[in-house]
Amino acid sequence: MNQTTPLPRPSIGVFDSGVGGLTVLRELRRELPAVDLRYVADTAHAPYGQRSADYIAARSLAITQYLLDQGARLIVVACNTATAHAIAAMRERWPTLPIVGTEPGIKPAVAASRNGRIGVLATPATIASERFKSLLQRHAEGKQIVAQPCPGLVDLIEAGELDTPALHALLAQLCAPLREARVDTVLMGCTHYPLVQAALQRTLGPEVQLLNIEGAVARQAARLWHEAATEGPAAIHLASSGDPAALADFVRRALGWPNLPASSLPPADAPAQSARTAPAAAGG
Ligand code: DGL
Repeated sequence: MNQTTPLPRPSIGVFDSGVGGLTVLRELRRELPAVDLRYVADTAHAPYGQRSADYIAARSLAITQYLLDQGARLIVVACNTATAHAIAAMRERWPTLPIVGTEPGIKPAVAASRNGRIGVLATPATIASERFKSLLQRHAEGKQIVAQPCPGLVDLIEAGELDTPALHALLAQLCAPLREARVDTVLMGCTHYPLVQAALQRTLGPEVQLLNIEGAVARQAARLWHEAATEGPAAIHLASSGDPAALADFVRRALGWPNLPASSLPPADAPAQSARTAPAAAGG
């Protein structure tokens, strides 16, 4: 008698360099409570923001293939940096696959600003990217944009430093140019940053409005999700190229979701190159 392996349940595949994309996962759960979600944290290769464009694209393609093998029918790139450097290659490789990217919401930030001075906090690789330049050209004509690269910030967040003196010192340094420019609106252009939103708001002051894009990303995924409902309660699976137990623990502490299954990314998805390299044209 032939034995057939059951097909994996359809799911939404979500990935980021580490824990940042969990801020998108949280919104996806809110928008689509009945859909299985699969989250990959590429922790062994974080931060992407200090990597080359080729490296980020190679990792994104390998992780997407893994998620498709696990039954993903829609991919959410829960990372501004990977969207900037890999989404074009992903769309070329899988032309019919629905893929939702995450990009700094320049257009809504411009609409929300009263004084036309807007700060953007993002990774060096996002700020150096052509997609970011194109967003500014299309949506920020005549506005003053202070784009602040934040090297080191993702490292602290990955280390769980969400409210420590080291975090406050770095935020004070990174926010100084924004305060000097008297921006009234600041955009979090990296999915990690909402994890330190309270500390950021304290550093910027109460008069500055702090915007993020994660809710809009989840709503776009919901618009594109057309799969039939699956039976039984919706599952969330976690996978990490680093320590899966540490990821599950972070999810429990940051999102309040206890006891989620977490696995290791198979070795086939190990790094294309191991050394940390400078981004193509880092902004600092
Ligand atoms: N969370 C990411 C982003 O939105 C990536 C941060 C990083 O790995 O540098 O850009």
